[in-house]
Amino acid sequence: MVTLNFQQEIALQETSMSQNEDLEQQNKTISTPFVLQFNNLTYSINIRKEITIRRMLCRKDTGTIDTLSRKKVLLNDISGEAREGEIFAILGPSGSGKTTLIDALANKISKKSLRGSVTLNGETLESAVLKSISAYVMQDDLLFPMLTVEETLMFSAEFRLPRSVSKSKKMARVQTVIEELGLRDAAKTLIGDEGHRGISGGERRRVSIGVGIIHDPILMLLDEPTSGLDSSSAFMVVKILQQIARTGRIVIMSVHQPSSRVVGLFDHLIFLSQGETVYYGTPTHLSVFLSEFGHPVTENGETTEFMLDLYSNLEGLPGGTKSIVEFNKSWQTIRNHPYTSKHSNGLDLPSLKEAIYNTCANGSGRTWTSSKFANSFWVEIIVLMKRSLINSKRSAEIFLVRVAGVVASGFILASTFWHPDKTERGIVERLGFFVFIVTIIFFGNTDWLGVFVQERYIFMRETAYNAYRRSSYILYHSIIVIPTLIVLSLILASITFPAVSLDGGFLSFLFYFLAICASGWAANSLICLISGLFFQVVVGYTVAMTLVGLFLLYSGFYMNRDRIPSYWIWFHYMSPMKYPFQALVLNEFDKPNLCVAKVGAEPAMSCVMTGLDIIRKLDAIDLSKWSCLWITLAFGVIYRILFYFALSFGSKNKRK
Ligand SMILES: Nc1ncnc2c1ncn2[C@@H]1O[C@H](COP(=O)(O)OP(=O)(O)OP(=O)(O)O)[C@@H](O)[C@H]1O
Ligand SMILES: [Mg+2]
Repeated sequence: MVTLNFQQEIALQETSMSQNEDLEQQNKTISTPFVLQFNNLTYSINIRKEITIRRMLCRKDTGTIDTLSRKKVLLNDISGEAREGEIFAILGPSGSGKTTLIDALANKISKKSLRGSVTLNGETLESAVLKSISAYVMQDDLLFPMLTVEETLMFSAEFRLPRSVSKSKKMARVQTVIEELGLRDAAKTLIGDEGHRGISGGERRRVSIGVGIIHDPILMLLDEPTSGLDSSSAFMVVKILQQIARTGRIVIMSVHQPSSRVVGLFDHLIFLSQGETVYYGTPTHLSVFLSEFGHPVTENGETTEFMLDLYSNLEGLPGGTKSIVEFNKSWQTIRNHPYTSKHSNGLDLPSLKEAIYNTCANGSGRTWTSSKFANSFWVEIIVLMKRSLINSKRSAEIFLVRVAGVVASGFILASTFWHPDKTERGIVERLGFFVFIVTIIFFGNTDWLGVFVQERYIFMRETAYNAYRRSSYILYHSIIVIPTLIVLSLILASITFPAVSLDGGFLSFLFYFLAICASGWAANSLICLISGLFFQVVVGYTVAMTLVGLFLLYSGFYMNRDRIPSYWIWFHYMSPMKYPFQALVLNEFDKPNLCVAKVGAEPAMSCVMTGLDIIRKLDAIDLSKWSCLWITLAFGVIYRILFYFALSFGSKNKRK
């Protein structure tokens, strides 16, 4: 019902808009303050041919590097111009280079590989300026499922709007965006995911757009904002984009197969095929173009659909789409098309600085920060924590499952190692318990991997537009895990310490708890690092399992240090499981005059093994228990630092 009202509203606006369109068109050409031009964009990549054994053996193919790699041209000499107030659509069949062109315009292709120029009002944009005045909305909606629409937009506002903007102004901006995107009725609804019902697909897409436009950008780049939507939702999204464009933005979007209604909303189009321009102009000129090319659109036929069919037919012919590419080039020159890239050169465009100043000063409320980040380091951490706490509160079942897991493991351990006796057998059991509890902690932490990898994608997207610093993300990430670790460690320690009759009273318990906590911290940080190095959860799990297995093998329990081959000894010292295991052993046995195994009958029992004997037997004499604890904590810190580097170097948002 709500959707219907909204659509009716759109339909009404559409009628009045079409009447004013001609007038608007004239005005635009006279007073266009922002014009994005891209000239001769060419981008190619080297594709390595698969080196098969046959090829290696066959002399013909084993020649130079050239025979092993081949150039693939993804964009070939693409030029065009998009203006403020307009929707510029990139069309073409799948694989034609639409996303690549959007990436080129969004400065997501390394400068070394991309030839040609992209300018705004004649000036090449610096990466930081482009980030602050543009928005890039990708095809997939990466949003936190447990936040409402309003909260999602509010966090986006907190990250992107300059700190000089007051909280109430940020809230007002969120409300404006909600109105602009027709999300009023969904504002308090959760985004949702597979497990939780949330907003609809069309609304999700509009929220993603909202996240992109919260800072009121001049330039909006959207990769297939309508994909996966039914035709009326797709129309609504493009209609909203048109309204957004009309309020003073350049909207550039790619679209795969738009309906004629949607095409009617575009101001001009570029059709791509295999990285080449096959048409560039307005939707209305397209039928003329096709007639002149010798393939007039059949009566009542949809022009864009006809064009796409024509491509696929041409692609099947020997010359491919070459004929239409050549025809387009001559057509552009002969007709001196109003949308050729040279057009705006004749206009008296203000300089970029001037245009930005004018748009901020004209009462639109636009403000962009000149600094790279909108907030200070600590504010970023607070906002990140606030968002994470809301998320965790709403997905409390995840925490409860973790608690249940720890309680269950604790009880299984407690019942298995229940009160070992004071004999040699009891000692072996106790040692087995120590190594097993450390192992459980390390393996138990691997379940964070999925969460971390998922969060990493959001991190990459948010840091791509400088929402926050990498360093504040790392610190927030480290702090947020500590309360959970403390609670889970306390539960595990409280269940197992008395059950296994560990020695030493409260102080010993306290150290035992700290050692468990430190193990949890090191394990969690290790998983964090793995999530930073591997994008795929399955690969991450395999690496984590293998590493934990090897760390366990070299922890010092299965093999004494002097028995480890010299070429593997470094792995013994690198094992983060060696130190908590040793700490637990020392906490239990490193006591003067402690007799751990006796023989004979009371009162004439004789001691056959002291605590020090065990420590010597395990060769655990190199460090004190406190040193072991600090080293375990240090391992966690080192893993987090390496995680920072993994994010810095592994999360480059640029194509080579
Ligand atoms: N790293 C790569 N290696 C090889 N080919 C690539 C690479 N990246 C892109 N391509 C190729 O470049 C072409 C253009 O890709 P692009 O993603 O821009 O197409 P698209 O028009 O956005 O397609 P779709 O509509 O399916 O999203 C495709 O043929 C694709 O296979
Ligand atoms: Mg694409």
